[in-house]
Amino acid sequence: MLLYPYNPKRELWDFIVLIFTIYVAIEIPYRIALGYSFDSWLYIVEIIITLLFTFDIFLNFNTAVKKGIKYITDKKDIAKIYQGRRLILDILATAPFFLAYSFVSTVATQTIPALRLLELNRLLKLHRLNHLLDIWRKKFQINPGTLRLINFVLLLALVSHWIACVWIMIGGVKTESKEFSEIYSLAIYWTVTTVATVGYGDITPQNFTQRYFTIMVMIVGAGSYGFVIGNISSLLASVDVVKAGYRKKLEEVSAFLNYRSIPPEMQRRVQEYYDHIWESRLGNDESTMLNEIPEPLKSDLALYMRQDLIKKVPFFVNAQENLLKDLVMLLQPMVYLPNSYVIKKGEAGSCMYIISSGQVDVVSEDEVTVYATLREGSFVGEMALVLDMPRTATVKTREYCDVYILEKNEFDKILIKYPDFAKHIQRITKERLEAMHPVLTIKQDDPISPES
Ligand code: CMP
Repeated sequence: MLLYPYNPKRELWDFIVLIFTIYVAIEIPYRIALGYSFDSWLYIVEIIITLLFTFDIFLNFNTAVKKGIKYITDKKDIAKIYQGRRLILDILATAPFFLAYSFVSTVATQTIPALRLLELNRLLKLHRLNHLLDIWRKKFQINPGTLRLINFVLLLALVSHWIACVWIMIGGVKTESKEFSEIYSLAIYWTVTTVATVGYGDITPQNFTQRYFTIMVMIVGAGSYGFVIGNISSLLASVDVVKAGYRKKLEEVSAFLNYRSIPPEMQRRVQEYYDHIWESRLGNDESTMLNEIPEPLKSDLALYMRQDLIKKVPFFVNAQENLLKDLVMLLQPMVYLPNSYVIKKGEAGSCMYIISSGQVDVVSEDEVTVYATLREGSFVGEMALVLDMPRTATVKTREYCDVYILEKNEFDKILIKYPDFAKHIQRITKERLEAMHPVLTIKQDDPISPES
């Protein structure tokens, strides 16, 4: 039997181990601090944990280990990796030390409370916590900033719980005639006020041990408090790095515009442009990010990111995947402001455009005649490239337009490689040419030429 870490059954098993690991980290210190007796229910739980952790060791010997990008599947090699510190900690965490106290209590006339500390051996399983949590991080793709915040809050909560338990153990809370819940609430209250450096002074150390423990907690508290204050803003900011980057950029732009005494009206337009960029999700330079990724993954990612565009272009919906993969890698996003020129009649054409959002008017040079209004999913600027002639019309935006640009040389290569796409583009060109010059009749099979 050999399992892989991502096998659903193995993942379910890891989840069960995770739950029990968290359980022991919370319950055992609490149980020892409050010294409650070992009833049959606790015995059953402890036996279940022993069996569970034993089986976990067995499974670890039979689970492939990820090294770099490869999986180590040879059982001897797996064993070699597992043996050592990890295996020792797992065995110690599995050992039924909880039996020692009850055994000594039955044979000796006096109980030895310190023996109960042996039950803490289960906490050694916490060395796997990071690995166990890692599986869930990968599964749910939690944002690294959010994750750091969650980890930090959970760690603080767990450490506070342990400090509260130790405080009860060393007699920091008077336990006589008090319920367990009340004792614990007093201890955790003392912990939080001390760690947070508030220290109301209503619960104070009464002896040597308590005093030194308090000093230690105060030092830990002051240190972690400084750490919290110092890091919380960066943690919160890093929860959404993209948005934080966008905000920073806006601040820089605004400071620059003020420094250069740009009039408020122009500043408002710049602000509007950045708002549009953010809303249309073109804010981040995709190409810089994509360049860092290896080729096959890059084209899959680009295909995914430009899915919206592909859905809008009727021809692309049923186009072959290779064409789409090639195309998405070559497209460059660009934003045009309202009432701006994308193309001017008579200029030389060096690229074509695919409209992703917004509307453009195709107009005559004097802008009096409107030949067409094109919306998202339409091509524009293909005629000059196909017919190898100057731009046949002026193209002007009506509103903010997000377009993708395809350079002429890339466009030519794509047409040669994908004849279906070439035919489609030629058909559009022919229709548009006919619409512009209705007197011309073009036979379907004629090669297109400007003079025809
Ligand atoms: P091009 O000639 O490169 O530049 C102007 C563009 O306007 C042209 O390519 C076509 O994409 C587009 N165009 C020209 N005429 C029409 C039309 N009648 N309908 C739609 N689009 C057109």
